Amino acid sequence: MFLSRLLSIVSVSLLVGRVLPVPVDAPAFYTRGEDALDIVKRATPAPPYFVAYSDKWTGSESPPTPSTINGFNVFNLAFLLLEGAWDNAQAWTTLTDAQRSSIKSQYAAAGIKLMVSAFGSSDAPTSTGADPIATANTFANWVKTYQLDGIDVDYEDFNAFNAGNGSAENWLISFTTQLRSLLPAGQYIITHAPVAPWFEPNRWGGGGYLKVNSAVGNLIDWYNVQFYNQGTSEYTTCAGLLTASSSTWPQTAVFQIAASGVPLSKIVIGKPANTADANNGYMDTTTLASCLSQAKNSGWTGGAMVWEYPDAGSSWITAVRAQSWPVA
Ligand SMILES: *[C@@H]1O[C@H](CO)[C@@H](O)[C@H](O)[C@H]1NC(C)=O
Repeated sequence: MFLSRLLSIVSVSLLVGRVLPVPVDAPAFYTRGEDALDIVKRATPAPPYFVAYSDKWTGSESPPTPSTINGFNVFNLAFLLLEGAWDNAQAWTTLTDAQRSSIKSQYAAAGIKLMVSAFGSSDAPTSTGADPIATANTFANWVKTYQLDGIDVDYEDFNAFNAGNGSAENWLISFTTQLRSLLPAGQYIITHAPVAPWFEPNRWGGGGYLKVNSAVGNLIDWYNVQFYNQGTSEYTTCAGLLTASSSTWPQTAVFQIAASGVPLSKIVIGKPANTADANNGYMDTTTLASCLSQAKNSGWTGGAMVWEYPDAGSSWITAVRAQSWPVA
């Protein structure tokens, strides 16, 4: 244990100043600063990813203590909007730097990445004319200022995708490219949270998320795919979720998205915590657990995402992981 820690530190010091990912997750006993040790602390983890969003007020300005969310390894504070931080992302800004450092260390020690999620359903960045480069600059600075591990791009500008002229795709490609230039791979995590139908081939005039993936997928660590709110019977069985989506949204089940060129290990299955957290798409935890098991047996390692904490906490993710990657 101690030896491997030492080796990690040595190998990282050799990498300082180079653009190389550092696939090492070290304990968080270092003080802050933009140095090699900080890079180690923030390195992108390997799948599976178990991701919780937190927009709903929890009764505290602070994120939950890690034990409360045991079983998750990514916690997304929501949302960072064009007008500024909102809800639990805003609450995070009201803490002192020292408080943030302390909480961040506890999360790192528990193996949980703490990130911010951008946009959500309140923002339509392309339709409202936001500049992708300026927005990326502002958001990347925000991530650094507030000591987070990265940013989730929950872009939900449906009108822009529906326009079919590439405006959504081009916006996302510019935005992601600029974000990554400021938040380097291996040091910071960048995820996207598209709805599953956006991966349908030959449906979106601008190419949809398959276009985004082919252009900048190498800059995106994984996709928290929203398999909900797409119709009452969409993605609600293991077959519809994993192998064959309905004729409403063809070719958008997990393995179908992978067949279109998205790395299977980057496809994280997103679901609501309960029937109240989304219009539709809910699966009970036992059914979802069996789907995860089935997918894992076919070589998938992506993980699961939930909207949202605290409706889903440790007991939810423990149940969902029970048949695939049981929580210790
Ligand atoms: C795409 O279509 C939208 C909606 O009609 C329009 O506002 C926008 O200017 C178009 N963008 C391009 C690049 O053609």
